Amino acid sequence: MQPAIAVRDLTKKYEEGAAGTLALRGVDLDVLPGELLMLVGPSGSGKTTLLSIMGCILTATSGSVRVAGKEVVGLRENQLPALRLEHIGFVFQGFNLFPTLTAGENVELMLDLKGVSAAKAKKRAQELLEQVGLGGKYASFPADLSGGQKQRVAIARALAGDPGIILADEPTAALDSHTGRNVMEMMTELAHQRGRAVVIVTHDSRVLPFADRIVKIEDGAIAAPENGSVRPGLLEGHLPQAAVGLA
Ligand SMILES: Nc1ncnc2c1ncn2[C@@H]1O[C@H](COP(=O)(O)OP(=O)(O)OP(=O)(O)O)[C@@H](O)[C@H]1O
Ligand SMILES: [Mg+2]
Repeated sequence: MQPAIAVRDLTKKYEEGAAGTLALRGVDLDVLPGELLMLVGPSGSGKTTLLSIMGCILTATSGSVRVAGKEVVGLRENQLPALRLEHIGFVFQGFNLFPTLTAGENVELMLDLKGVSAAKAKKRAQELLEQVGLGGKYASFPADLSGGQKQRVAIARALAGDPGIILADEPTAALDSHTGRNVMEMMTELAHQRGRAVVIVTHDSRVLPFADRIVKIEDGAIAAPENGSVRPGLLEGHLPQAAVGLA
């Protein structure tokens, strides 16, 4: 099976500061269609950097990243949005909603960019908001929504274009257990029933039991036994108990 994302010997150096920061140092990772992969690791280890490069939001310094079979390393920044629009749904670490647009319009924006007609976009946005439990919030502005509701709008927006790859940075961080579980059930369904490749960055040990595979990143490199992956439950001794919150 062709990976949805294939990362080889990926490095990323941020040039800010005298010496710069080597945020990724030789990462290898495959993400398959139909799997829910979780990326864990300490703060500053490079999780958001890796996710952003896989999501065609950030350019890499060297190595190879194939997204749906297409090499993205070496593309110019202005070549990335088209790829992102075609293949990627991205849920940002801090929601990233447009404050002057309603919840519905935030979702529709993605569809407008894809050339979907206004009427169809509105119908689809309403369906998506219903799916995430926000059927009545189409006309609400982000400022009038709770953290959990904003997160769900961000998820609806990421799913709007029906992307093959869904990347989410801490999608449950702002959510209570019940909402967090709903979000994870939705992500699991996207992977297992609809064959999407789903990558979730998380610090939230309650969601780890939903993973098909957990990859740990430390100091910009994959840190784990055998081919960079560990099975859920092997990673942290307290997992079964932690899982209770979302079970
Ligand atoms: N735009 C940037 N410019 C310069 N350095 C950056 C930038 N973004 C991240 N870094 C640095 O790169 C390293 C990796 O950061 P990154 O945000 O990928 O970590 P993270 O694992 O997502 O952390 P967290 O769990 O806190 O979100 C850190 O040392 C960080 O300070
Ligand atoms: Mg981060």
